[in-house]
Amino acid sequence: MKIAVLPGDGIGPEVTHEAVRVIEALGLRDIAMEQAPVGGAAYKAHGHPLPPATLEIARQSDAILFGAVGDPDCDALDRHLRPEQAILGLRKELTLFANLRPAKVFKGLEDHSALRPEVASAIDLLIVRELNGDVYFGEKGFRTTASGEREGYDVMSYSESEVRRIAHVAFRAARTRAHRVCSVDKANVLETSQLWRDVIVEVAKEYPDVTLDHMYVDNAAMQLVRNPGQFDVMVTGNLFGDILSDQASMCVGSIGMLASASLGERQTEYGTFGLYEPIHGSAPDIAGKGLANPMATILSAAMLLRHSLGLAEQADRIERAVAAAQEDGLFGRDLGGTAGTTEIGDAVLARL
Ligand code: IPM
Ligand code: MG
Repeated sequence: MKIAVLPGDGIGPEVTHEAVRVIEALGLRDIAMEQAPVGGAAYKAHGHPLPPATLEIARQSDAILFGAVGDPDCDALDRHLRPEQAILGLRKELTLFANLRPAKVFKGLEDHSALRPEVASAIDLLIVRELNGDVYFGEKGFRTTASGEREGYDVMSYSESEVRRIAHVAFRAARTRAHRVCSVDKANVLETSQLWRDVIVEVAKEYPDVTLDHMYVDNAAMQLVRNPGQFDVMVTGNLFGDILSDQASMCVGSIGMLASASLGERQTEYGTFGLYEPIHGSAPDIAGKGLANPMATILSAAMLLRHSLGLAEQADRIERAVAAAQEDGLFGRDLGGTAGTTEIGDAVLARL
């Protein structure tokens, strides 16, 4: 079983290091991990945020463990050379179109949510975010208007096949959970969203056992803090999913706790090929200081074992160890505690 480890920028290397230690501690034979550069680090070393050799290592693997990309030194580069293009390129090149972002409150974290404990403790939702389309990948650029003004533009679009395949992922996920899907769009304003909604309704007919609701994204943002316990599976486009998943993380307690899986249709010998990453970014302000919370990456490693390597039991073990550490009050600075990156990694290892 081959895992490509792409640590990236900022706190990426620190948090991935802890996740790798956790995987190693499981003592599994037959797992090989290979590291490769991505993001600003790869640009600085090889002149490109996603060097061909890195893409090849990723392609040849059964799963990718990804840290974070983003580096203020690179903000002035042409867009195609910016660190973020590494993750966008991997998602697109490897057709990883389905991003699963689960949010659930760990015991002991209720008091750390930005919401009241009784509201937060009801959260158990899964955001299914489309990753290969939307305004992220449409035509974009700068132009000059007739009156000589500068103008930036990004085209938003979804084809029906793109919506259909993510809809199936959401409905299938709902079947393993509470059988409810809430589709989030902006169909009152956007044609892209109208098509999205029409296709979701069509696909829903194949899942009569799953209840479907629709919500406009502004209302969804409001409901997510008013009563997040109402949601089971939320399915939405690339941009809305990016925003709502950051919001969901603070409802749970910290962005340092939310893991994600990006999956496509390719099957490996052991499961579904995928990329696993924390939903947080590279946090350049705390990079290299040993302060970052590695839990989201450790939980991403658990998702990797479950979805890509068919190792559900080991994934459960990691999740139980994380839950136990949280219950024991082991918090990093993001949660108002004092534990550093290594200390949190050690705590998970001890409980494994
Ligand atoms: C995420 C991140 C990325 C995104 C960035 C780094 C391109 O915010 O994974 O949520 O916008 O998808
Ligand atoms: Mg994001």
